[in-house]
Amino acid sequence: MAYVDKEVQAAAKVLSEKLKKLEDKRAILRAPELVALYDRIKTLPAGERAAFGKEVNQLKSKLEQLVRQAQSFKPKALSSIDITAPFDINVPPEQKPKLLTADMGSQHPLMSELATVLDIFYRMGFTAVESRELDDDWHMFTSLNFPKDHPARDDYDTFVTDEDLVAPAHTSTMQNRVLKEFKINLENGKPIAILLPGRVFRNEDLDARHEHTFHQFEGVYVDKDIHVGNLLATFKTFLQEYYQQDLEIKTQPFYFPFTEPSFELALSCPFCQKKGCHVCGYTGWIELLGMGMIHPNVLKLAGIDPIVYTGFAWGCGLERLVMMKYGIEDIRHFHSGNLKFLRQFSLEGIWYDV
Ligand code: DAH
Repeated sequence: MAYVDKEVQAAAKVLSEKLKKLEDKRAILRAPELVALYDRIKTLPAGERAAFGKEVNQLKSKLEQLVRQAQSFKPKALSSIDITAPFDINVPPEQKPKLLTADMGSQHPLMSELATVLDIFYRMGFTAVESRELDDDWHMFTSLNFPKDHPARDDYDTFVTDEDLVAPAHTSTMQNRVLKEFKINLENGKPIAILLPGRVFRNEDLDARHEHTFHQFEGVYVDKDIHVGNLLATFKTFLQEYYQQDLEIKTQPFYFPFTEPSFELALSCPFCQKKGCHVCGYTGWIELLGMGMIHPNVLKLAGIDPIVYTGFAWGCGLERLVMMKYGIEDIRHFHSGNLKFLRQFSLEGIWYDV
């Protein structure tokens, strides 16, 4: 990050170095260099205080973000494997073949973050079923209560094969299958609690927030007496575990054919705690995902009686969630294959640039 003030610049450099070495990263938030900057604000002439204070706060927010990141992201240390052919150990050293250099790779950040998401939902009793990458019109639309030729289908424009198979535009394409498969749970007095992670595809105009290929994780929960309160409590708990901080959520009405009522969920910005910053467009809130109570027709099509059982569902974009956690400004980085981007999430990471 670029700071205008020389003093803040110098402190950021020192703090960055310190952060790299600290075992307990949280200690950086109590570092004397940071405390000194805050003390300095009081000594400045009134006219200079606001600009200086703003930069100090930016520095502190950045440090807080890096601490959260370090706490949740623990790349595994991998030792390299010697892939050279066995050789005669009796030959003189200069005749032994040279070892190939083993450049250390690492897991893609989306996959390690998905593992974190799954862990949180496993702890809430969910079972994961992977979504599919090729499906049919019936599962994509009809099973989800989209009437034939309904304009809502246009929001899910995607790739189609000559045989009329579709590359699913959302993980909701799996709802009917898992509702049918896990209906037995209800008969045994247990809920259906399924998480459906998968890759999805859309005909999109590409920009910093839109990709033609991205990931979602769908949640599906059905039991007796399930209501909107259960849905909001579940997702809020997930967000707080994922971002490791207290967050507020709010809903606004929306339309999906497969839920009634339907909502869009927004969360208080984890970067500025609702004060307003560039990540949330100075609104303090970030719109995150669609959710709602599963439409009775969707339950009926899976053979579940909507008079007896109710349930909720959501579909959340993984990239958006991860972008917010690490302050990634462009969704296209994920599929770029750019090593500079990927290495930030590896052991040799360069994350501690404040
Ligand atoms: N499938 C929707 C989309 O991709 C998201 C969604 C909304 C999924 C509401 C749900 C839901 O399960 O209940 O835009």
